Amino acid sequence: MRRLRLMVTLIQVALLSHHPAAAVMTNFRFAQVTPSFPSDLQRCLLMTKTVEDGSVASCAVACHSMQSCFLFCIQGTTCHFFRAKVTNGWAGAGTGAPNQFSRCWSLYQYSNDIGLGVSTASQSVFLTYDHSNPVGKLYSCDDPNSCYESNIESNPFWMADLGSPKSVSEVRIHKYGLFNPVVEFRLGNDTTAANNPHFVTSFTPTIFGELFLKPPTPVIGRYFFVTENLVSDIRVCDVWILGVQDSDIWKPNWNN
Ligand SMILES: *[C@@H]1O[C@H](CO)[C@@H](O)[C@H](O)[C@H]1NC(C)=O
Repeated sequence: MRRLRLMVTLIQVALLSHHPAAAVMTNFRFAQVTPSFPSDLQRCLLMTKTVEDGSVASCAVACHSMQSCFLFCIQGTTCHFFRAKVTNGWAGAGTGAPNQFSRCWSLYQYSNDIGLGVSTASQSVFLTYDHSNPVGKLYSCDDPNSCYESNIESNPFWMADLGSPKSVSEVRIHKYGLFNPVVEFRLGNDTTAANNPHFVTSFTPTIFGELFLKPPTPVIGRYFFVTENLVSDIRVCDVWILGVQDSDIWKPNWNN
């Protein structure tokens, strides 16, 4: 029921900006999300701003004008702007959460993270960076507890098991590290990484250091792998594996 309600609470704001050649209309949309977050949300606070009318549209326009604003929340007449990323599948941090607002809106209108909470595997685990961490939540704010890290070893890998072959349109890795240029992303039905086709063959980090892996058409597979075919270590954090339904509704593209 909640999801249905959220789907209809998108707000859309049209802005007229002045391009030298022509006036360009920019459309952007936010989806309302559950307004309670854990304490680490404050790590991603960009700024707060009091708006006279405390209106959603005023906050939305201000958020849109900040390049790294992905989430804004309203409390009274104050807008709180964050670079935290949350999908509209976010269930909230629960009552009594330290960051409780009256309303929050996210740029990420994805409710179809089919990787959320799936079983995961790896060859090794460095310290507390367990392989289950990256798919633990639908909310991303530089939390080291959302990272997997391997030891330095031969052919390190991180794998997410979707349970059955699923159509995957995009994989978003919000933070990563230690990658060697030979890093590979594979999706298929085999539990051995190398026996699966490459999910994408080219990939470029966004200006915020994320990897959005999007093949030309969705790929069907059960096991998603991040791996390197050499002696190395890898780190991946906050991974969203997006199914086909709503991954293409809209996405911010600040790279252009
Ligand atoms: C995985 O299995 C499904 C269902 O049998 C099939 O449609 C899909 O093409 C397979 N994926 C790969 C990468 O072989």
